[in-house]
Amino acid sequence: MYAQMVDTGAKRLRTSEEMSPEERAFQERIDADIKIEPKDWMPEAYRKTLIRQISQHAHSEIVGMLPEGNWITRAPTLKRKAILMAKVQDEAGHGLYLYAAAETLGVSRDELIADLHSGKAKYSSIFNYPTLTWADIGAIGWLVDGAAIMNQIPLCRCSHGPYSRAMIRVCKEESFHQRQGFDIMMTLCRGTLEQKAMAQDALNRWWWPSLMMFGPPDADSVHSAQSAQWKIKILSNDELRQRFVDQTVPQADYLGIKVPDPLLKWNDERGHYDTSPIDFEELYNVVKGNGPCNRDRLRTRVKAWEEGAWVRDAALAHAEKRAARSARKAA
Ligand code: 3HC
Repeated sequence: MYAQMVDTGAKRLRTSEEMSPEERAFQERIDADIKIEPKDWMPEAYRKTLIRQISQHAHSEIVGMLPEGNWITRAPTLKRKAILMAKVQDEAGHGLYLYAAAETLGVSRDELIADLHSGKAKYSSIFNYPTLTWADIGAIGWLVDGAAIMNQIPLCRCSHGPYSRAMIRVCKEESFHQRQGFDIMMTLCRGTLEQKAMAQDALNRWWWPSLMMFGPPDADSVHSAQSAQWKIKILSNDELRQRFVDQTVPQADYLGIKVPDPLLKWNDERGHYDTSPIDFEELYNVVKGNGPCNRDRLRTRVKAWEEGAWVRDAALAHAEKRAARSARKAA
């Protein structure tokens, strides 16, 4: 994939001759699939792009709790409420895992949170869409977590040790997230006509934003070529997007609901589904802050951070007291 990436005119990569001896040795480790651990030497640019990607991944997990969280009190049964609570709690854990992986690169949690709140750091575009009905909770589990799994499985093999290990744990839990979402969609599609219509409406609204989760087309991706050379990105944005479409369309057929794409058609020659062109202007617009819920999501996160300051202060005071007591005992 990386060779193809370079051909698409993405940012030109430096050749081995142009690298310093440390960079050459570093690239040889990457090429030999040796994990890069926190204490290993790494190019500053490698550290920076990992902080960028891992922190934005963590922000996505935390902001991603909001659209689903507002349905916990409105879940249709006690069972669905319990499942949704467990899922939303898992996302918080994924966020903590990923913030911890980012901190191994020498950045503090407070800096990362400040970058999110100032708008300097991104989170996944998908979480800027509203959850209008209970079927949206099914569509998010089925499509959004399904897309996240597609994107995160290759990350289990990425070159950065802490990130790849965090992903292995996260992916196990994502599979439960995807299954519970599909189960909600199946229940609705086997229910009344109104329930099936609600599932179809959710698919109509979440299909294209889920495809945009995989990022811009490879030709427009600024980071892909370098991320591929460093084995942060094992498969390209377009490759993962195509795999997601090929896997998900038969699931929609099984549910008996229609993917909202008039040009969607299986192409025997390619061995993939052909789709209509994706409106990447919508992605760029949402990423720029003009999605339906961007302002609301950030306002909610800033409010939660400010209202939670006393908890952090109390935990820190308690930790400092315990440390002082242990130091006195050791003296
Ligand atoms: N939403 C927001 N920003 C996006 C985006 C999206 N869907 N797709 C791309 N971007 C941004 C990139 O962050 C980059 O901006 P930056 O330089 O300011 O960071 C820019 O657009 C160019 O995109 P590139 O393709 O060049 O960037 P990457 O190589 O980083 O690829 C990515 C983008 C595929 C999202 C990659 O960062 C990645 O794989 N990240 C890890 C996985 C992740 O973050 N997934 C988000 C969802 S997590 C989730 O769904 C949780 C689940 O529990 C529900």
